Amino acid sequence: MEVAEKRRELVLWIMVTVESLLFLCACCAEIPPRKVVWDGDCNPHIRLKRSEETVIIDNGLVEVTIENPSGHVMGIKYMGMDNVLECGNPNSNRGYWDIVWDDNAFDKMETKHVKVVAHTDDLVELSFTKKWHFTTDHGKAVPLNIDKRFVVQRGVPGLYMYGILERRHDFPEAQMYQLRIVFKLKEDKFGFMALSDTRQGIVPRGGDRDSSRSQTLAFKEAVLLTNPSNPQLKGEVDDKYQYSCENKDNKLHGWVSDDDAVGFWIITPSNEFRTGGPHKQDLTSHVGPIALSMFVSTHYTGIDIDVTYKKGEAWRKVFGPVLIYLNSASSDDDHRNTLWNDAKRQLSEEIERWPYNFTRSRDFPHAEERGEVCGQLLVRDRCLDEEPTQAQSAFVGLAAPGNAGSWQTEGKGYQFWAQTDNTGRFNIKNVRAGEYNLYAWVHGFIGDYKLDLNITIQPGNKINLGTLIYDPPRNGPTLWEIGIPDRTAAEFFVPEPHPAFVNTLCLDAADKFRQYGLWDRYSELYHHGDLVYTVGVSNYSRDWFFAHVPRNTGNGTNWSTTWQIKYNLQDVNEEGNYTLQLALAAASYAELQIRFNDREAVEPCFTTSRIGYDNAVARHGIHGLYRSYTIIIPGKRFHKGDNAIFLTQTRSHGSFDAVMYDYIRLEAPAG
Ligand SMILES: *[C@@H]1O[C@H](CO)[C@@H](O)[C@H](O)[C@H]1NC(C)=O
Ligand SMILES: *[C@@H]1O[C@H](CO)[C@@H](O)[C@H](O)[C@H]1NC(C)=O
Ligand SMILES: *[C@@H]1O[C@H](CO)[C@@H](O)[C@H](O)[C@H]1NC(C)=O
Ligand SMILES: *[C@@H]1O[C@H](CO)[C@@H](O)[C@H](O)[C@H]1NC(C)=O
Ligand SMILES: *[C@@H]1O[C@H](CO)[C@@H](O)[C@H](O)[C@H]1NC(C)=O
Ligand SMILES: *[C@@H]1O[C@H](CO)[C@@H](O)[C@H](O)[C@H]1NC(C)=O
Repeated sequence: MEVAEKRRELVLWIMVTVESLLFLCACCAEIPPRKVVWDGDCNPHIRLKRSEETVIIDNGLVEVTIENPSGHVMGIKYMGMDNVLECGNPNSNRGYWDIVWDDNAFDKMETKHVKVVAHTDDLVELSFTKKWHFTTDHGKAVPLNIDKRFVVQRGVPGLYMYGILERRHDFPEAQMYQLRIVFKLKEDKFGFMALSDTRQGIVPRGGDRDSSRSQTLAFKEAVLLTNPSNPQLKGEVDDKYQYSCENKDNKLHGWVSDDDAVGFWIITPSNEFRTGGPHKQDLTSHVGPIALSMFVSTHYTGIDIDVTYKKGEAWRKVFGPVLIYLNSASSDDDHRNTLWNDAKRQLSEEIERWPYNFTRSRDFPHAEERGEVCGQLLVRDRCLDEEPTQAQSAFVGLAAPGNAGSWQTEGKGYQFWAQTDNTGRFNIKNVRAGEYNLYAWVHGFIGDYKLDLNITIQPGNKINLGTLIYDPPRNGPTLWEIGIPDRTAAEFFVPEPHPAFVNTLCLDAADKFRQYGLWDRYSELYHHGDLVYTVGVSNYSRDWFFAHVPRNTGNGTNWSTTWQIKYNLQDVNEEGNYTLQLALAAASYAELQIRFNDREAVEPCFTTSRIGYDNAVARHGIHGLYRSYTIIIPGKRFHKGDNAIFLTQTRSHGSFDAVMYDYIRLEAPAG
């Protein structure tokens, strides 16, 4: 610890010295007229030029121009392209940080000061800062002290960006719903978008979404292209939420300019600074052409995610670094593939280098200042096996102390996740110092694991937790089950999209649920009556619709719907208690009521009450927030022979009031 501090001090001292040298260098360099003057003439590898309006960094591969002192990225010059960003936009609308706070107030996080924190043979790091002052900023600017960092390294065609945001204890209460970096690329150049190996393609131009060229569908984000500039896209749907991704997969996305055979990519080597854990979904790239680095949002969680900061609540967090990476290919080969594959290669390299050792902010700890937690997770489902079994491919993570599963809605701190191997072993590396709980969930088992111990990570320590055992909810042997406990509705029936509402970027089977309008297919398929599932006869991948939505009968009303599970019991233990294990994958403005055998019962046996804002149906997610319920039902409610369970989703104000199921299981009384 002490050694690390000393090293930091030394680094800081060197930084200050470098700055003074730079200053000298800039002074003497001002003398010769007309010649372009670079501070960095004292450094042939990376040149830096500062003027009243701009700061320019050039490493011979890219030239990055940042507005002084706002910290907006005005230009990125790369290969033959003078600016890969849209120079038709004002400086503040090309490459910028922004935040949405309180009542939809929007702040572009403009800064007031710029400082060169490092200029060496290997890199330049700039810091653009602003301090929040009550007298001038209250009610006008988000109550945050802002430090936006930009790093250009020798030999890397790109720009590393990170930000250090701070609330002091006397800052006013604020809700900070969304924080991101936005890039708006040159519109007439970047037309090919790539988000994954399967979701890639030519997408419409920004103007194609105008009302003269498209028709707005059920919400403003979704449009049907009626007269796009590229006629081949006519009749397709476009909606930025179709390009969403889970945090764990949201590592690389971006664009290709076919004319220049140039790629622009956002590379995110770690999720530690993202909120809501590995399965939280968020936006990536979308029509504009726009590329986003999302750090905080309420997407697919709604306001259940914790983004409220009270007065007196001091907070400081580092977002990033992320890498804005540029690459090029020769335009005669299969340049799109070449660029995508090269970007993937770069991603692996960045992951290898994580946590970066070049950043100069004290708030971003390097590897030796971080800790590690390992152990082995077993799962013991008493009705399957006497002995615990190894929890394979389970997600195990450290997040702020809270209840089991609270990481899903944790929106302020850092989270560190790993997956177990085939023997249930896990190793969570590069954990920042701090206090955490250890959480997990295991594919194939319901519920959430939490280790009842606060774990304090100190720099350099390695904690072996030994063998941990998860006892998932279980009261008795399985009578029947529907679905797979995997926190998504993906295994259920996901219909084909209506032929008039296809997006060709989502044609891969794994992306089927991202198509537009699938919710409406319920009303077509179940026009004459709601879904009925017969245990032993029905097959959940064909007969269980992926979302429990209202039914639109076309006469102007959305009807709340009641699904039925029919099953047969050969014996009933009237004295015992049965258990319904219910796991939901999503909920929006919903209430699920459950009745056993008596559909008309005034009082349901169980209700979830009003739950959820995750909007997963409208936003083409196959899950939102996970919830699980263990419902005890006395044996006298059951009949020998035929039985039915009625699942009523009572809310039907709009077609997106819905739940998605993850898994349902009926358990007999124990023993
Ligand atoms: C930083 O990391 C790189 C590779 O990730 C390594 O080559 C280099 O030696 C490291 N530098 C320091 C100062 O540790
Ligand atoms: C764990 O940390 C939480 C939050 O900091 C605290 O409320 C709780 O009392 C701690 N528990 C133990 C056992 O120390
Ligand atoms: C259920 O349906 C799916 C899709 O049609 C099929 O692949 C699967 O084999 C069926 N399962 C059973 C048990 O029939
Ligand atoms: C609308 O359709 C529902 C379901 O078919 C029906 O019960 C209801 O009477 C209809 N309402 C009107 C006003 O026609
Ligand atoms: C069944 O559950 C009720 C309510 O939880 C409880 O009072 C009762 O003792 C249970 N009966 C058995 C046989 O476990
Ligand atoms: C039914 O749902 C649609 C789509 O959300 C909505 O536009 C409409 O207002 C709803 N109708 C009623 C009567 O609630």
